[in-house]
Amino acid sequence: MQGRFRRKASMSRVQSVSPLAPIGVEAAVQAKADSKSTPHPKIFDEFKLTDRVGIVSGGARGLGLEMAMTLCEAGARAIYCLDIHKEPTEEWEAVRDYVQRMERSPRLEYITVDVTDQQAVWKVGEDIGDKEGRMDVCIAAAGVLRPEKDALEYPASEFKEVMNVNVNGVLFTAQAAGRQMRRFGNKGSIILIASMSGSITNHGHAWVSYNSSKSAVLQMTRSMACQLGEEGIRVNSLSPGHIYTKMTAQYLDQQPHLLEKWSSLNPLGRIGRTDEVRGVVAWLASDASTFCTGSDILVSGGHHAW
Ligand SMILES: NC(=O)c1ccc[n+]([C@@H]2O[C@H](COP(=O)([O-])OP(=O)(O)OC[C@H]3O[C@@H](n4cnc5c(N)ncnc54)[C@H](O)[C@@H]3O)[C@@H](O)[C@H]2O)c1
Repeated sequence: MQGRFRRKASMSRVQSVSPLAPIGVEAAVQAKADSKSTPHPKIFDEFKLTDRVGIVSGGARGLGLEMAMTLCEAGARAIYCLDIHKEPTEEWEAVRDYVQRMERSPRLEYITVDVTDQQAVWKVGEDIGDKEGRMDVCIAAAGVLRPEKDALEYPASEFKEVMNVNVNGVLFTAQAAGRQMRRFGNKGSIILIASMSGSITNHGHAWVSYNSSKSAVLQMTRSMACQLGEEGIRVNSLSPGHIYTKMTAQYLDQQPHLLEKWSSLNPLGRIGRTDEVRGVVAWLASDASTFCTGSDILVSGGHHAW
């Protein structure tokens, strides 16, 4: 009797219900009377994005494409890759065809847009909303890293250009998706791609514009998370360490000694692979992370270089 009373009192303080309820310990307690049935494990169900719709900026290649594919594999209905390139890459086409052959045939779509054009990106979001009737996930991965330059001589035009893509473009992409999440009231998960360079400085690299832009993304994440939390829209950032993509290839291919340097600064003794962001993206995009917002997730192998 006393036990039952304690349980009732604690339940009244639970302010939300899992979309997969009953789940976890609660599922076990509820099933106590029925010892014959075989319990269904739910942990991987929490990661399922069944029928969800999302956008990924910078989705033509690199980390953006890897993350877009992850969302498709997790069960999404349609993922729209937004990129400045007029035509999708061959790699993108291979991914589109590959996921289409999977169960439930998720759609990978391609839209050419410059994320620094706020009205254009908003329009893309609206068109997707009109067509799909929902918006659930946004990954803002479009970004640029320019050649190294002395901080004291850094040209205004180039500083503005980097900030425009890496900060304004990230905001405009998050807005484009967030406005549709609000329109349809289906909550959602927004993931802003920052970098370890937003928290540490890559010693020996003259990247003042890139590093400043990535710090801005971290604070944008916290600000947006606080504003949108009550609508059930979560905003988190993901900060990768060194991963071999076209962006880092411009350094690694020209200066091969950097591979050893970057690896030696990393506790794991190596740089990362693009596929190593799949797990964390699946988690952040899904109901497996419903109590996570305003956080920065470092996927960097613990890299420290300041
Ligand atoms: N590769 C790494 O080691 C690393 C580490 C930390 C963070 N990041 C971040 O991850 C994200 C993806 O980087 P990546 O390594 O895949 O690089 P990438 O250069 O392969 O991909 C970036 C994509 O963004 C697109 N893009 C650039 N400007 C755009 C614009 N104005 N409008 C629309 N699209 C635009 C590019 O066309 C490209 O397809 C970036 O934000 C980058 O800063 C990368």
